[in-house]
Amino acid sequence: MEIFELARTVRDRDPARPTWIEAVTCYAGLQAVLMHRVAHALYRRGFKALARAVSHTNRFITGIEIHPGARIGRRLFIDHGMGVVIGETAEIGDDVLIYHGVTLGGLSLANRAGPGGKRHPTIGDGVAIGAGAQVLGPIRVGEGARIGANAVVASEVPPGETVIGIPARPPHEHRILTGASVGRTPPAPSPGYGLLDQPCDPVGEEIATLRAEMAALRAELATLKRQQAGVPAAE
Ligand SMILES: CC(C)(COP(=O)(O)OP(=O)(O)OC[C@H]1O[C@@H](n2cnc3c(N)ncnc32)[C@H](O)[C@@H]1OP(=O)(O)O)[C@@H](O)C(=O)NCCC(=O)NCCS
Repeated sequence: MEIFELARTVRDRDPARPTWIEAVTCYAGLQAVLMHRVAHALYRRGFKALARAVSHTNRFITGIEIHPGARIGRRLFIDHGMGVVIGETAEIGDDVLIYHGVTLGGLSLANRAGPGGKRHPTIGDGVAIGAGAQVLGPIRVGEGARIGANAVVASEVPPGETVIGIPARPPHEHRILTGASVGRTPPAPSPGYGLLDQPCDPVGEEIATLRAEMAALRAELATLKRQQAGVPAAE
């Protein structure tokens, strides 16, 4: 069921490590994606006004505005969520992370490709988009790319690239422009806030350790009981 997949994603990706109950009940991003599934299904069947009503209710409840026409892949994690806007022709791949205040919007009325034309970005699998970033126009953000908080992106981002600032560029290009790169070695990119090098589950690991310790204690207790039973002189 999708709700469990989304809850696992929340637990894996939020450094606050919520419980399962918290993930389902207190994460507007999870609720927004589920409500969008309903709105999108209605939209595709031609019930556009009803779809808009569901999407509007979604915005009212979660603070996240997703046009019913937007196509969203699996395990999207919208963290915090408030103020996120996702346009009608936006497409989002799998395992994407979006923080609050992000817009996947159109750039200008001039670049509309006519009614039904593509106006909004396509976001590749595994992309992370920082808080307040604006990604505009029918551009592609390549798989695994990272967009810094408050960046404004209006042109293609290659797969795996990190871009920051306005207009968004890789950090080393900003350093060259400001002269800050003189005589310094660029730092290795870190995974970034809320991103993981590899999936980890510290709570699960802790439980596994406790279970192993409990099993060892039970075994020890059983041994002691057997020894006690076998040595009546000690009683
Ligand atoms: C883009 C990002 C993933 C890059 O992470 P990173 O690879 O660890 O990069 P660093 O933090 O080492 O920063 C590299 C350089 O870019 C600058 N930089 C990083 N993010 C920036 C941003 N959003 N805007 C402007 N400059 C930024 C840093 O100051 C640093 O500059 P310097 O080398 O001149 O000192 C990260 O900075 C970011 O913006 N993450 C989103 C965080 C977010 O939205 N959090 C909300 C949580 S509620």
